[in-house]
Amino acid sequence: MAKESASHLKGQHVLLCVGGGIAAYKSLELVRRLRDAGAEVQVAMTAGAQQFVTPLSFQALSGHPARTTLWDSAAEASMGHIELARWADRIVIAPATADLLAKLAHGFADDLVSTLCLATTAPITVAPAMNHRMWLHPATQANLATLRARNVQVIGPEDGPLAEGESGPGRLSEPEAIVASLAPVAEALPTTTPGALHGLKVVVSAGPTYEDLDPVRYLGNRSSGKMGFAVADSARRRGAEVVLVSGPVHLPTPAGVTRVDVRSAAQMREAVFAAFPADIYIGAAAVADYTPRAPATNKIKKSNESLALDLVRTPDILSEVAAQTQGLKLVVGFAAETENVAGYARGKLVAKHLDLIVANRVGVADGGFESDQNAMTAYWQEGERVFTPGAKTRLADELIDLIVERLDA
Ligand code: C5P
Repeated sequence: MAKESASHLKGQHVLLCVGGGIAAYKSLELVRRLRDAGAEVQVAMTAGAQQFVTPLSFQALSGHPARTTLWDSAAEASMGHIELARWADRIVIAPATADLLAKLAHGFADDLVSTLCLATTAPITVAPAMNHRMWLHPATQANLATLRARNVQVIGPEDGPLAEGESGPGRLSEPEAIVASLAPVAEALPTTTPGALHGLKVVVSAGPTYEDLDPVRYLGNRSSGKMGFAVADSARRRGAEVVLVSGPVHLPTPAGVTRVDVRSAAQMREAVFAAFPADIYIGAAAVADYTPRAPATNKIKKSNESLALDLVRTPDILSEVAAQTQGLKLVVGFAAETENVAGYARGKLVAKHLDLIVANRVGVADGGFESDQNAMTAYWQEGERVFTPGAKTRLADELIDLIVERLDA
């Protein structure tokens, strides 16, 4: 059950920050649980945490040296602390002491952990653990209220016997419960208001297209559809009515989204136009550029040493959408490039008359097609935005934020 509910952690970069409390020993188990759920984990410890558990234990369990100070030149040389803050798709602080909560609430940056938390744009989860009187103190409760207002997720603490022989609220939640309670990153993000797209209809295309050569073979591509599905989900959560036109993929339909499954570029074009009128079109599909002029009715037999395929151009759905005038407020395209990303993306922005184009480099490790991760930059006529690389779910949320901004521009 815990594993299933934490499947969104798969492939995520989790930065676990460990505070100085006796419960720090439970964080060793937490590293193991996070890794079991598929996350990659790096650990940063406060000075206090190192009084309870050794960095070596965290290194052994996480597979990375634990970070202990801002002033370690060797660690900084391999990955600077700002880079580490950017690496994280999410930060989990466990145990979060009263002191750490106070530092976070007031924006202190006087040690490694507090600096990482201030330097990140990733969502933060805290799992507090402390003496029950410290927990119930108005200062701690006020700090928590501040953090909650900033969308920091709070897990626990639990009620029960405490280390000092007393009893009350202050026990760190069990590692299994913490992992099971970690909110999907997209939900935890401090983004635009949930209803930002209320009353608007969004059509998203996603996935590859398959162009049939004969009854058993097709021309396809390696698009997984994950980015388009994440964008559709994100738009829906902001209150939009969403139609998702999808090529052949193996993905569940996001809640509340109307899905239309298609196979070829021609079918995708038909389904997209059937979904109009709409306010926003987001073309995230990897549409085939060419299709067989005449698919064979029977299986093509091998005969000669070589075989030439006669292909013709497919309709450019995105260009056609951008050219029509059914009241669309914003047309967004994607560009997957292997080189000169900015140049080609800006070229497409102009050539296809788009409002926004999202470019990512494919053919590099840990990004683009088939991956849960992505690295992307959006371009519009007067500007551009570089997104911090990471989970497609978070990037989808940030893209929808940008779309909301561009709608208002
Ligand atoms: O020109 P290129 O294929 O690189 O442009 C990519 C963008 O154009 C994507 O947004 C894709 O969904 C869209 N496209 C389309 N129809 C095509 C080819 C690409 O809508 N036939």
